Amino acid sequence: MEHRIAEDLHLRSTINVLSTLGLAKIVWHCPLYRDAACEPPGGSRPNSDRECQPNQKIPPKSGVPMYSSGPEELSANTRHDDDFEVVRRLLDERYSCRAFRPDPVPRDAIEKILATAQRSASWCNSQPWHITITESEGTERLMRTLYEHASNEAPQEPDFAFPREYKGAYLDRRRETGFQLYSALGIGRGDKAAYTRQALENFRFFGAPHVAIITTDEALGIYGAIDCGCYVSNFLLAAHASGVATIPQAALSSYAKVVRRELNLGVDRRMVCAISFGYADEGHPANSYRTNRAPLEEAVKWITA
Ligand SMILES: Cc1cc2nc3c(=O)[nH]c(=O)nc-3n(C[C@H](O)[C@H](O)[C@H](O)COP(=O)(O)O)c2cc1C
Repeated sequence: MEHRIAEDLHLRSTINVLSTLGLAKIVWHCPLYRDAACEPPGGSRPNSDRECQPNQKIPPKSGVPMYSSGPEELSANTRHDDDFEVVRRLLDERYSCRAFRPDPVPRDAIEKILATAQRSASWCNSQPWHITITESEGTERLMRTLYEHASNEAPQEPDFAFPREYKGAYLDRRRETGFQLYSALGIGRGDKAAYTRQALENFRFFGAPHVAIITTDEALGIYGAIDCGCYVSNFLLAAHASGVATIPQAALSSYAKVVRRELNLGVDRRMVCAISFGYADEGHPANSYRTNRAPLEEAVKWITA
């Protein structure tokens, strides 16, 4: 089947991959509670053995390897190489999907993605992400409301301020990716009506059967949002590894209050972004191009002395 969900083996390899991003070789030294900044409210310390056993090796969950440093080192190194290749390939292949087929993703497939992304890192392991996922009429209802707001040009009220300005390289990259999309769709330069129509597609979730709303706790501020960003990234990768296409969307945060009301979210929740997901309409021109990345020299600086 064209968009079949990956076999268990495939998912297991994804979990292995994610484990190389800091989840393998788990040795807990409990730095959390040595760091005063991370002291839980009231200064209480964790009381369960699982939470705080210095140098305790946590046995791997099924499918998550613990790398040995003994005689098996050679095979562990080979496995590192394989894992690295998988991460690289998944990152190379993933893209933001802007045209979905309507068929829903089975609940168990979504739950596997969620369980994988749940392993994301967060400051003090606070795991501030809450994910509210729509399906069937839930998706339709939210879409109708948001689409109406956006098409009436209701004032934007994001919980986290949108970028003040794109300038220099950021403006260039923003323009480049915009023109890639417009030219794929046959939209001519300066056709503002068509730009607006395409921007509104955000509020139709690009036809996706599901949207996940990612929120953080108000009191954690920007770092809660950063933790959610780590989560979003892992969700995208785990979904891609399962054959599920995604697009992160800040556009939906324009109407954070409306989302909070419609989905009955707590007043202490702050919307970071959304992820629309489902199966890609692979033949659609909106999915026909891939974005570029700047060379490393533009992003990385080495200090050698
Ligand atoms: C936090 C975040 C918010 C985004 N919001 C939107 C959005 O509202 N609408 C949209 O079409 N794309 C959105 N994107 C997708 C970006 O445009 C896309 O990631 C970028 O152009 C790189 O392309 P790629 O994801 O295909 O590699 C968002 C991406 C991120 C990470």
